[in-house]
Amino acid sequence: MIRTEGLTMRFGGLTALNGVSLELRPGELFSVIGPNGSGKSTLFNVITGIYRPTGGEVYLDNTRVTGKSPMELNRSGVARTFQNIRLFSSMSVFENVMTGSMVRSEVSLLGDLFGSRRSRDPHEAARKRAWEALEMVGLTDKADLSATELSYGDQKRLEIARALATDPKLLMLDEPVAGLNAEERASITQLVDRLHKGGMPILLIEHDMRMVMGISDRIMVLHYGKAIAMGTPAEIANDPKVISAYLGETGATA
Ligand SMILES: Nc1ncnc2c1ncn2[C@@H]1O[C@H](COP(=O)(O)OP(=O)(O)OP(=O)(O)O)[C@@H](O)[C@H]1O
Ligand SMILES: [Mg+2]
Repeated sequence: MIRTEGLTMRFGGLTALNGVSLELRPGELFSVIGPNGSGKSTLFNVITGIYRPTGGEVYLDNTRVTGKSPMELNRSGVARTFQNIRLFSSMSVFENVMTGSMVRSEVSLLGDLFGSRRSRDPHEAARKRAWEALEMVGLTDKADLSATELSYGDQKRLEIARALATDPKLLMLDEPVAGLNAEERASITQLVDRLHKGGMPILLIEHDMRMVMGISDRIMVLHYGKAIAMGTPAEIANDPKVISAYLGETGATA
């Protein structure tokens, strides 16, 4: 699974991540919480190769992957969604999910070029995977709509479907319920819970405490780029350091 060792990320004089170590256990739903600007998305951006860390390492299944490109990491099984939705607006819902499926198909496309008999029609396999991903998130009836015709909640689902279509070893979700109404939040929470119970390892960033406390196995709390606590939802909810980090957000910056 994914493991980080002492990850540090500096942007000029700002230390966005300060020696963050975590290890995701097989099948675990591990959440990262913390006040705005505490480094959560930066952690995802370093793990997925968008930024090369200033210090520390990232390992995937005990292989060092620090500094690999987002595409390489995606092909190795790391899939994510973004805090700000990134969909192809000119494409249909199905085509958007196909962009995920094709990530994994490129190897078989090469096999096809070199006449490997195993990969008859890689596109067919990709289409099947895309369809299964749409089924998982409940969007099959909207497959032919343009991505922009979807409600915001369905666009969030579509991003999850595209990530799933890459057939990931690890799913990373950056605020999947932000900006949604209570009903949509409950429904995406259920979806994430179902994926977790189906065995998918998940790293989750969320401000929605109901979601995080309800479905996480473990939680890590970031504060000014540092992991100030890690534990079960019950341990985190009762940790005085965590409570003061959140209260401090509106008060003095200590
Ligand atoms: N590319 C960048 N260049 C400069 N500073 C950055 C960059 N990316 C993030 N930061 C800074 O790093 C800090 C952590 O940002 P990050 O986006 O990781 O926070 P976050 O915990 O995800 O916050 P939020 O809950 O608001 O999404 C912030 O001070 C942010 O301004
Ligand atoms: Mg963020």
